Amino acid sequence: MKHAALALALWMGAFAGACGSTTPPPETAADKDDFDGESLPGGDAAGGSESAKAQKPAKAEQTAAADEGDEMPAKSTPVQATKFEADLKKIGINLKKIPPLEKLPSAQKKKVMPLLQKALGYDTCEGCHVEGDFKKETRDMKVAREMWRHFVVPLRSESGGTLFCDSCHAGDEHVLNRKDKKALQAFMEEEYQYKLARADKEDMECGTCHGDAMETKIIEKLWNIPK
Ligand code: HEC
Ligand code: HEC
Ligand code: HEC
Repeated sequence: MKHAALALALWMGAFAGACGSTTPPPETAADKDDFDGESLPGGDAAGGSESAKAQKPAKAEQTAAADEGDEMPAKSTPVQATKFEADLKKIGINLKKIPPLEKLPSAQKKKVMPLLQKALGYDTCEGCHVEGDFKKETRDMKVAREMWRHFVVPLRSESGGTLFCDSCHAGDEHVLNRKDKKALQAFMEEEYQYKLARADKEDMECGTCHGDAMETKIIEKLWNIPK
């Protein structure tokens, strides 16, 4: 089932100068440390977020210090179960069937905003908005809409759990360390390919997010959001 993905990964290996170092998907290891909420106590809100907190790698603390400015985390941030499932439910959002962000009823849209802020670790709403005008379009608003459309709506954890922004962001806008190409590629394979899945049950491949032509600049080139 993961042949196509593996082939693509190997091809990527060639371009990143890591040819042949790709190992087959570690099914059992991946199953073991699946981030999905299955082992969380009874899906109850408090219990759920507490164990999600416990699972959060200590690394997040180090990177929190770097969230001012454009510094990248020392290590790319692994995927985790969302801590916002209960908060989302409270405002009437079921992650299993949500519309694009722009299609949410206005009341829900407003209530989801503080969750976006928290998931990205912004101090204020101005992480995405300009002061005093929530309607004025910004680059971060555009990115947020596309992240919602391409990642939150159609993707799942490998065992079918839903994703929200914090599943990848864990309280920080910056999640990738792009300095070490080989490590980044391994990260993409282990975290974004093998630990994530598609709601439509099709194979999860690099191309699911990067497109068939393997465009690495997703935001700029695939989503057409200039820097
Ligand atoms: C991660 C980015 C992000 C953050 C952080 C964020 N917003 Fe938004 N906000 C958006 C996007 C994107 C839209 C437009 C949604 C759409 O297309 O309708 C929006 C729309 C809104 C709107 C509706 C504007 C209108 O068209 O009437 C309000 C009000 C709003 N945000 C308030 C807030 C508040 C208050 C906060 C802080 C608690 C906040 N936002 C934080 C991304 C963000
Ligand atoms: C599948 C993982 C994933 C999910 C889910 C996800 N993101 Fe992202 N997001 C990323 C990655 C990877 C980057 C690039 C970060 C970097 O360069 O360090 C990013 C970058 C961003 C940026 C910064 C873009 C820039 O260039 O400045 C914003 C804003 C953002 N995401 C918002 C969101 C919002 C809002 C959500 C939820 C609706 C979300 N993301 C969900 C993976 C994800
Ligand atoms: C769940 C979606 C997703 C999957 C699956 C995925 N990636 Fe990514 N990848 C991203 C995002 C988002 C970025 C940041 C894009 C941006 O900055 O525009 C990124 C960035 C990259 C970059 C860095 C590009 C740069 O210029 O810094 C490389 C290399 C990469 N991915 C390789 C891969 C490979 C190889 C695979 C398959 C093993 C893969 N990705 C699978 C979402 C994904």
